Amino acid sequence: MKTVYLETFGCQMNELDSELVRGQLETLGYRFSPDPAKAEILLYNTCSVREHAENKAYSRLGLAGVRKRDGEDLIVGVLGCMAERDGIDMLRRFPQVDLLCGPGELDKLPSLIVNVDQTDRAQRASIEDRAALAGNTSRRSAALTAATDDLESLDLSRAFDPDRTAGRARSAYVRITRGCNKFCTYCVVPYTRGAEVHRPPVDIVEECRRLAHAGVVEVTLLGQTVNHYRYTHGEATDAEGRERPQVGPGLAAFRNTVVEDVNVTTFARLLARIHDEVPELPRIRFLTSYPRDFGDDVLEVMAARPRICRYLHVPAQSGSNRILKLMNRGYTVEEYLEFVDRVLDRLPDACIAGDIIVGFPGETDEDFALTKALLRRVPFKNNYIFKYSPRPGTTAIDRFVDDVAEDVKKARNNELLAVQAEVGAETHAQWVGRTVPVLIERVTGQTSGAKATNGEFSDVDRRVQLGVGLRPTPVVLPEAPAEASLVQLSGRTPGDLIVAFDAPSGPEPSSLLGTIVEVEIQESGPLILHGRMVQHAD
Ligand code: 5AD
Ligand code: SF4
Repeated sequence: MKTVYLETFGCQMNELDSELVRGQLETLGYRFSPDPAKAEILLYNTCSVREHAENKAYSRLGLAGVRKRDGEDLIVGVLGCMAERDGIDMLRRFPQVDLLCGPGELDKLPSLIVNVDQTDRAQRASIEDRAALAGNTSRRSAALTAATDDLESLDLSRAFDPDRTAGRARSAYVRITRGCNKFCTYCVVPYTRGAEVHRPPVDIVEECRRLAHAGVVEVTLLGQTVNHYRYTHGEATDAEGRERPQVGPGLAAFRNTVVEDVNVTTFARLLARIHDEVPELPRIRFLTSYPRDFGDDVLEVMAARPRICRYLHVPAQSGSNRILKLMNRGYTVEEYLEFVDRVLDRLPDACIAGDIIVGFPGETDEDFALTKALLRRVPFKNNYIFKYSPRPGTTAIDRFVDDVAEDVKKARNNELLAVQAEVGAETHAQWVGRTVPVLIERVTGQTSGAKATNGEFSDVDRRVQLGVGLRPTPVVLPEAPAEASLVQLSGRTPGDLIVAFDAPSGPEPSSLLGTIVEVEIQESGPLILHGRMVQHAD
């Protein structure tokens, strides 16, 4: 059986897709290597959200092309959003690409690989045998396509292997919703991932339960807009009465977040069910929240259920109402602030993170000043700051000229990073003196006293500046210097704050990975807390 190299670009959705693809191919007997030179099948799970991510994927395809021209017998596959967006045009432009598989068709990947593998390369498999794309069916109407049900089988077929979670940070993603209905003008996601489709609650709860039994400590529920999760029972069942994924209602349905109908599982009810029905799961978190249509019902469920993490990733995108309107975000700055105030009123220790785009078409100095003011008004723990990148196929690229010069975008990006560093420092400082539970994720070495000078924050800043900081949980600590005299551990609080502390004497540090310990916070910076482990909470 051939060896596969799978590389993932972009967001958490892609990371989850890659994990499921890997599980599916491993079940079929494929082996995986972290080294592309040792693999005969190269798969790139791509992201189209910004040009930067696409360029990285193109450069990988260039290298794969060189290997093929040198005579290596490789299968090269492009998965994910670039495959979906470029479509079969990509097969023409990049002859080294053998197969394409859109994010909505990943269940078909094994058969695409077999088709390519069994076809004489000189003849080339037909396009239909090499490409699985949703194409113009990606905006599904009221009826669910068979493809969506097949895709559900990919999530359902997830492997629950305790060996794979042992010793590592035990954190897993669980999808609750695919796709997006909002059509922000800059964004390709509604085109590449299609309309919102919600998974049946029973499948989600079962997946969480099985992950917990396999040793997972933290589940992150994923959706482009988790608070638009809505499932009406008794509508879509298969022949055996099993509930099927369901196309979500239009945006108007979320104007009133109070849902009386007990036959409907809202996001709040889903969270409550997972918390109450999977008591063995220590941490439940979710990504990404949309600042509108986020009802008090969710906040009440969070306030009453301690294992639901008080962490919200809720992108503002801009602090100017004029720009928010051009972005078609559907809320004003005042509404965003009203939401944040509501969160902090109900959950005073909640941590808030966001995303901001600088240099959107037409953004003036005044608009940008409003964005800086927004950052100063909200106790953000961090913000992912992106320079606007015009994306083919979006409304913004058709309707607006990308008229903010690159050096202006860059300057605004840097200025905002500096503002965020101040805001982050203030937010983190509030935690000094408190004792917090930390899920340990990394063992790092560090010379004692080197904390402040050893690039403590620069790694994160660089990732954010490069626009690769999509993960709300940046891995920040620098690798151990050779002369390290102290072993450090790092992990995250329920609010997603990163905490570093000296490993206790006694247990082998790596044996603590994946456990939750209590840490008393002693120092803070813009992105990291430092503390002292006080006891083993397990
Ligand atoms: N240009 C820059 N940033 C973008 N994002 C989405 N599309 C674009 C684009 N065309 C950012 C948004 C979103 C995050 C995932 O990526 O801030 O929240
Ligand atoms: Fe893109 Fe807006 Fe949907 Fe987020 S909410 S995926 S930015 S269209």
